[in-house]
Amino acid sequence: MAITILRDGVKVPTDDAQFSELNNFSVKQGMDLVFEWINGQYWLHSDIPKENPIGIEIDRELTRHEEYFKKSSLQKELLAKAIGVKGPYRPKVYDLTAGMLGDSLMFLAFGCEVWATERHPVIRFLIQSAIQNAQHPKAKNFHFHTEDASDFLDHPPEVDVFYFDPMFEDASDNTPKKEMRIFRNIVGKDKDAEEIFKKALSKKARRLVVKRPKQSIQLVQKPSVEYIGKSTRYDVYFSI
Ligand SMILES: C[S@@+](CC[C@H](N)C(=O)[O-])C[C@H]1O[C@@H](n2cnc3c(N)ncnc32)[C@H](O)[C@@H]1O
Repeated sequence: MAITILRDGVKVPTDDAQFSELNNFSVKQGMDLVFEWINGQYWLHSDIPKENPIGIEIDRELTRHEEYFKKSSLQKELLAKAIGVKGPYRPKVYDLTAGMLGDSLMFLAFGCEVWATERHPVIRFLIQSAIQNAQHPKAKNFHFHTEDASDFLDHPPEVDVFYFDPMFEDASDNTPKKEMRIFRNIVGKDKDAEEIFKKALSKKARRLVVKRPKQSIQLVQKPSVEYIGKSTRYDVYFSI
């Protein structure tokens, strides 16, 4: 098992230090992984050859969100409500589960300062490559870490919100979209979600926000308040 790195369609050597974590992961998991350098950053090819590779386009996503919020009020956005955006107030957010930065980029677009951590080597590699390629002014409000959230919670930044979106044990979507399918294959389930939740709760940020599939059971305990969308629910735990 090995990783393949493509540049202009040509394989490049993978013995460089930046690829060592990926090499170790692919050998340990018995997985072949193909990354391609496109438009200034790395993308991950899926297991289905004709599908487009996945990657994180920070500038494009931030611009897209900003355009959207010019037309639609932030106050109506469920995620903004869940983290406590109100009037000019913008909470500082620590995203414990960065993933493909979908939520972190929303927080940045709201105007928040964001700290985030990701423990998986493949996802981390995509994030770091995307950060190096980012030019958008709001990208400077993003502070990325590469620890397990459990370790990072031992010395958390001074933030208002801890945000937690783990891969759940009870996820039961049979036809997940491409990104989610790749996530499930590569990242698997976050079996320590309950422990991370308890540790985050014990650190008493103003609020802990847990993202869940709408129909899914609550993690560990009942939230103070729920924000329910079409397919997602945000469980919010206030610190007393
Ligand atoms: C469901 S995804 C998060 C998706 C993300 N909210 C987004 O919008 O793209 C969960 C991610 O959190 C990471 N993760 C889970 N538990 C973690 C932990 N304890 N520390 C760091 N990263 C963690 C997983 O590796 C995975 O990439």
